[in-house]
Amino acid sequence: MIIISIDGTAGSGKSTTARLVAQKLGFLYIDTGAMYRAATLIVLTSDVDPHDKNSVTKLVHDSDISLVNNKGELKVLVNKIDVTKDIRSPKVTGFVSLISSYRRVREYLVGLQRAMAENNNVVCEGRDIGTVVFPNADIKIYIDCSLEERAKRRLLDLKRAQVNTNLEKVKQELERRDKMDSKREFSPLRIPECAEIIDTTNLKIEEQVERVLDLIHSLEGV
Ligand code: DC
Repeated sequence: MIIISIDGTAGSGKSTTARLVAQKLGFLYIDTGAMYRAATLIVLTSDVDPHDKNSVTKLVHDSDISLVNNKGELKVLVNKIDVTKDIRSPKVTGFVSLISSYRRVREYLVGLQRAMAENNNVVCEGRDIGTVVFPNADIKIYIDCSLEERAKRRLLDLKRAQVNTNLEKVKQELERRDKMDSKREFSPLRIPECAEIIDTTNLKIEEQVERVLDLIHSLEGV
């Protein structure tokens, strides 16, 4: 089985790139951020205090989180209920770095991620994919992008989703999340060893996809 790992900061364009690359190659797309968001949604819609690590861990372990690739689109299910839209709410975004900092929450989700790759070629995207989840990935990619450009892109997405915000707020939120995700104790965001670094600040989505596909086509038999 072939494993392509894509890591990078929030809003760097890694999700769109990973989804399109997976679609082109007929690989399974694993959006691990969506799984951490699903775990966060479970907590926020329960009576459990998000700061109560043990109760959060138990609640998440007792839940069924799954990703379904459906005609090029990814659906996120919690206990078989479609939460694809709900996991993108500003409230979930605000708490996801806290919930994903808990070691045993991570261990549970990493187990699910590895199981998905057992019988599939995958493009797996997140923060710790090339470092922890699949350290032996066939190709490791790290996507970077300036904070200004990431904030502009994120603002457009949020405007489309009719969320009322502004560039400065979006920038602060991205910075806060980057800091928490890269400074946390367990599986922080890092550039994996031997990763190809792609800076998307001045790239269009098609160009990002093309760069990744070129790397993958350098593998024998793909
Ligand atoms: O990719 P995203 O912005 O949807 O991810 C949401 C959060 O989930 C991110 O801020 C940190 C966490 N995350 C993580 O800790 N590890 C991953 N492999 C993917 C995401």
